[in-house]
Amino acid sequence: MAATHTLVMTGASRGIGRIAAETILKNDPTVHLVVVARGDSGRAVASELSAGGRSVSSVSADLGSLSSVRSAAAEIATQLQRGELPPLRGFVGNAGIQYTNALTKGADGHEATFTVNVLANHVLIRALEKHFSADSRITITVSDTHFGDFKHNMGMVPGPIWQAPEKLAKTAAFDKPATTAAGRTAYSTSKLAAIYLVHEYARRLPNGIDVVSYNPGFVPGTGLARNADAVSRFMMSRVMPLMALTSMATSQKDAGRYLADVVLGKTQAPTGSYVDRATVEPSSDESYDRAREAELWDAVEKLTAA
Ligand SMILES: NC(=O)c1ccc[n+]([C@@H]2O[C@H](COP(=O)([O-])OP(=O)(O)OC[C@H]3O[C@@H](n4cnc5c(N)ncnc54)[C@H](OP(=O)(O)O)[C@@H]3O)[C@@H](O)[C@H]2O)c1
Repeated sequence: MAATHTLVMTGASRGIGRIAAETILKNDPTVHLVVVARGDSGRAVASELSAGGRSVSSVSADLGSLSSVRSAAAEIATQLQRGELPPLRGFVGNAGIQYTNALTKGADGHEATFTVNVLANHVLIRALEKHFSADSRITITVSDTHFGDFKHNMGMVPGPIWQAPEKLAKTAAFDKPATTAAGRTAYSTSKLAAIYLVHEYARRLPNGIDVVSYNPGFVPGTGLARNADAVSRFMMSRVMPLMALTSMATSQKDAGRYLADVVLGKTQAPTGSYVDRATVEPSSDESYDRAREAELWDAVEKLTAA
C-alpha cells in the first residue's frame, strides 16, 4: 500500500523508539517514516525497518548540535515542499539522553542533556510547524522522573530543580555538577521542561495539530544508562529488566507499543495532555505553571535562534 502521510521520528534507532517504529510501520501501512538519527546510523535503521516493503527514509542529525538539527529540519521541509514526501501528519520526539554529570556540553556550548531533550525538539517542531496538515499529532517522550518522588522512580533519579531556563541551558546548573546525581537532576529537570513546552505548544499550535507528552514508566535494559558506571550499567542491563516482570517497571516491548499507540492516535488524548503509558493522567502539580511555561518559551526561542 502506498504511503499517504509522513511521520518524522527521533530516537528510533534503539530501545523504546525502535520497538515503537516497528509497531507503527506494522500497524499503519499508509505511513512513511522519516528516521532522524546521528551519523550514518539512520540509513542502516531505515534499511532494516523497510524490510517487507515498508516506506522508510532517513535524515542525519546529531541532536546535540543545533546547526545539525536545523539542517535536518530544512532537508525534511524541502522534501515535503517538493512532494518527495507525502503530507506531514506527525512528529515523535523520542530521543533522550542522561549523563553522569551536569558538565557535558553540546556542540553549541549548551548543556548536552538540555540540548538533546529540550532544544532539539523545539528546533524540529518550529521548523516543521507550517508543514503539518490538519489531523496531526506531535508526541514528546518525557519521564515520570519529573515527579521527583519515590513513588515514581524508587529514589533512582533525583527530582527536578527548576531554575531560570538560561541557567538550565548552561553546564554546572546544579550543585556538585561533576556527580551522577547532578547529571540525573539535569535529566529529570529537562523532562519537566519538555512537559512545560508541551503545554505551551498546545496553546500556540493551530487547531488540528495536537501535541502530547508520553511517559513510558521505568524501562530497564535500554541504552539510557549507557554513560553510567559499570555497576549501574550491569544493574540496568541485567538485573533491572527482571523488574519488568513486576508492576514496578515497563518492558521495552510494552513501552514501545504504548508509544506507537499514542503516535497513531489509538490512545486518545486531548492536546496538551500527559499520557502515562496508555492512560491520560495529570503530570506533577509542579508541571502546570503558566509563568514558567511562558518564560521557557521565550528562552528556548532565543537559544535556538539561528
Ligand atoms: N528507559 C527508561 O527507563 C525511560 C524512562 C522514562 C523515559 N525514557 C525516555 O524514553 C526515550 C527513549 O529512551 P530509551 O530508554 O529507549 O533509551 P535509548 O535506548 O538510549 O534510546 C535513546 C534514543 O535517543 C537517541 N539519541 C540520543 N542522543 C542523540 C543524539 N545526540 N542525536 C541523535 N539521537 C540521539 C539514541 O540514538 P543512538 O542510537 O544514536 O544513541 C536512541 O535512538 C528517551 O526520551 C528517554 O528519556 C526512558
